[in-house]
Amino acid sequence: MTPKEAAGRRAAEYIEAGMIVGLGTGSTVEWTIRALGERVAAGLAVKAIPTSEATAALACSLDIELTTLAEVSSADLTIDGADEVDPSLDLIKGLGGALLREKVVASITTRQVIVVDPSKLVERLGTKAPLPAEVVPWSHPLIARRLKERGLEPALRLRAPDIPFVTDNGNFVIDARFPGGIDDARATECWLNALPGVVENGLFLGMTHLVIVGQDDGSCHLINKS
Ligand code: A5P
Repeated sequence: MTPKEAAGRRAAEYIEAGMIVGLGTGSTVEWTIRALGERVAAGLAVKAIPTSEATAALACSLDIELTTLAEVSSADLTIDGADEVDPSLDLIKGLGGALLREKVVASITTRQVIVVDPSKLVERLGTKAPLPAEVVPWSHPLIARRLKERGLEPALRLRAPDIPFVTDNGNFVIDARFPGGIDDARATECWLNALPGVVENGLFLGMTHLVIVGQDDGSCHLINKS
């Protein structure tokens, strides 16, 4: 069992009958969704809010009942992956391109559980992963210039040479590298989201309650929010 599988499967144990469950996106939470599918097949009744079209398709294929924001205003538990986790359990997310819906679902969840392998743990956000920002396509050249003016190294995400990656919401993603990492994540989140044309950024600050870190031997290390 890989660390991602160990973490993903362990998180599924937190899902209880009757819950509204937010389902994240990525290769780690995919194991959670598959484990949930096994529990649903065995009789567990839950409703899930998917954070991407890919997650919705996987959940549907496993007969997990889906719900929508038209029907519910909160989730009991959300399980999602991350690209970086710092010691305060603040995160960078969005390398899978689903950060906007992930953040909307995280904002309505009572408990956010993050599943990662050990490579995602960092002392400082922005030291390994770039910070993704979902942007309105028309505005992306201007936003890239604004980020450069602040000393960042922005790159429009591509799905093929010269073809931009497009999110489930029809937007582009700019991945911004911070030389030396992110100095003040809260301030960064504020000024970034204040740029017209930025829809949302991949900083998830103060939203996580538990991080499950899968290990090489199949065990899990649990880090609770202090
Ligand atoms: C999706 O947009 C991301 O936020 C993912 O949750 C993140 O990239 C983690 O992905 P993996 O579990 O595939 O590493």
